[in-house]
Amino acid sequence: MKLFRSKPKAGAVNFTNLPRHIAIIMDGNGRWAQRNGLPRTAGHAAGAETFRRVATYCKDIGIEYLTVYAFSTENWKRPAPEVQFIMRLLEKYLWEAIEKMEKDRVRMKFFGDVSILSEELQRLIEKTAEISQRYEGCQVNICVNYGGRDEIIRAARLCAEEVLKDGGGKIGMEEFEKHLYSSGIPDPDLIIRPGGEQRLSNFLLYQSAYSELYFTDTLWPDFTERDINKAIAEFQRRNRRYGDIK
Ligand code: FPP
Repeated sequence: MKLFRSKPKAGAVNFTNLPRHIAIIMDGNGRWAQRNGLPRTAGHAAGAETFRRVATYCKDIGIEYLTVYAFSTENWKRPAPEVQFIMRLLEKYLWEAIEKMEKDRVRMKFFGDVSILSEELQRLIEKTAEISQRYEGCQVNICVNYGGRDEIIRAARLCAEEVLKDGGGKIGMEEFEKHLYSSGIPDPDLIIRPGGEQRLSNFLLYQSAYSELYFTDTLWPDFTERDINKAIAEFQRRNRRYGDIK
């Protein structure tokens, strides 16, 4: 268990060909807690701390977009106290973020249907969106009550509604993508999943078409700046062909 971690080793990252957009499935909080004889909630609290450090590091090395999976449409199946705890962590994080955003110049967006979250969370989300409009720095997207299939169906519905309203018109990739939560944001270049599982679990299903996937056994609370550097180094070794033969 690494409770006290060292400062970022930015020197170890190669700044040529950095991914513009990194997305992370923050997995392994529960197992981390279990391994350390702690309740699952302690794993999420440690996971939130890791998120803060990783987000700061990504901003510092010049990553333009960071998208994290904080709570999926399927996570409501978990025991109510665990769900409540994660929501509280989000609230706490947003309170802090609002205070720091002016200094950090970070933009924050939420992917997912946030209309069913608590009024307090919705208010904080609105506030961060309002502040974000003023900045052009690193953009952090937090996926809450998010599911890739849900997002695709929602976009299809919105497209169909538009076509019906305008009487005609076409539904192409461009029209469709306008209705995704990620509208206007480049697709993730690199998707990282700690925690040992090798699947996408309904994360960014549309946007991940050409993402490089990186899996590691490290549990999310143990994830450090060094692990980000390792994932980036692996990304830089990959040959992205997008269906071409080069
Ligand atoms: C997956 O690990 C993690 C979650 C479902 C919650 C992630 C939430 C946070 C990191 C904290 C809140 C986030 C922010 C942005 C402040 P798991 O519980 O499925 O782990 P396990 O597979 O080991 O059980």
